[in-house]
Amino acid sequence: MIGVSFSTLAICLIAALVLAAHQPSSASILKLNLDLPISLFPTPGPDADSGAEASSIDRFGPSPNQWQMIAPDANSMDTEASTTTSTNESSPVTSTTTAIDSPILPTDTSSPPQPTVVSAFANIHRTKYASIHGFVSFVPSPAKQATFIKIALNGLVPNATYKVHIHRNVVSSLSNSRWDCEQADGHFDPLNIKAAGELTYQCDPLRPKETCELGDISGKFGDVVATKYGSYIRLIDTPDPHLTLVGEFGVLQRSVVVHNKDGQRVACGNIAPMAYA
Ligand SMILES: *[C@@H]1O[C@H](CO)[C@@H](O)[C@H](O)[C@H]1NC(C)=O
Ligand SMILES: *[C@@H]1O[C@H](CO)[C@@H](O)[C@H](O)[C@H]1NC(C)=O
Repeated sequence: MIGVSFSTLAICLIAALVLAAHQPSSASILKLNLDLPISLFPTPGPDADSGAEASSIDRFGPSPNQWQMIAPDANSMDTEASTTTSTNESSPVTSTTTAIDSPILPTDTSSPPQPTVVSAFANIHRTKYASIHGFVSFVPSPAKQATFIKIALNGLVPNATYKVHIHRNVVSSLSNSRWDCEQADGHFDPLNIKAAGELTYQCDPLRPKETCELGDISGKFGDVVATKYGSYIRLIDTPDPHLTLVGEFGVLQRSVVVHNKDGQRVACGNIAPMAYA
């Protein structure tokens, strides 16, 4: 009996080994076992960079070779973490120094790095004259030497013609949620183009810098002409080379006003930062 079971065991063992050698899945089982230590990795911490690294490891399932390459990184991550901890636990002197320095910081208001505004957006609001709404966006071209303008409006009179300008000042809502576009003051014209000839002003789109107010969007790129549904949408695909978001002639914190053909300010909104980098 014992002899039989031994030989049976031996046969079973051999059979198992042969099977294992021929089964392709045995390799992946082996790999899985090798991969197991990955789960012992420190889970992604609050540090975004190390978190990204750890998650990419999880996603791609490293081979044992990669594991060899990754492991030292994991160690260095640990070392960094512990160094940081020991610094802030064992040297209260450092934090005292920071405390002494900090009262000086608020006086130096120019030092905190400002986020860069990469696009701006004016929500266009209705007035007591019309229920026009939409937006005008300003997106610098990749080289940042020019700005693309996108206009989208609804609630216009079907087939009617409008003009869109950037005005000097910001506007605000009246109590009835209609906006007061008179607050916008005059056209944004920092180079005083119109002052040279108030009555003879004629914006020539071919010579915008010399003949057009900086804020004369319709003068430079054409009027808004509503569809028969009272809507309008246009990406001005020739970027304005003189319009910038910030700086001396920047359009941020000014307003966009929509005028009807009689010049009435029928809609407006403030140009605000839309995205930062
Ligand atoms: C160490 O510093 C971090 C932030 O820098 C802080 O959140 C943590 O509480 C500090 N730990 C100790 C023990 O002071
Ligand atoms: C607008 O113009 C279209 C043709 O361009 C015309 O069919 C439609 O009747 C016009 N709508 C109004 C309100 O004038």
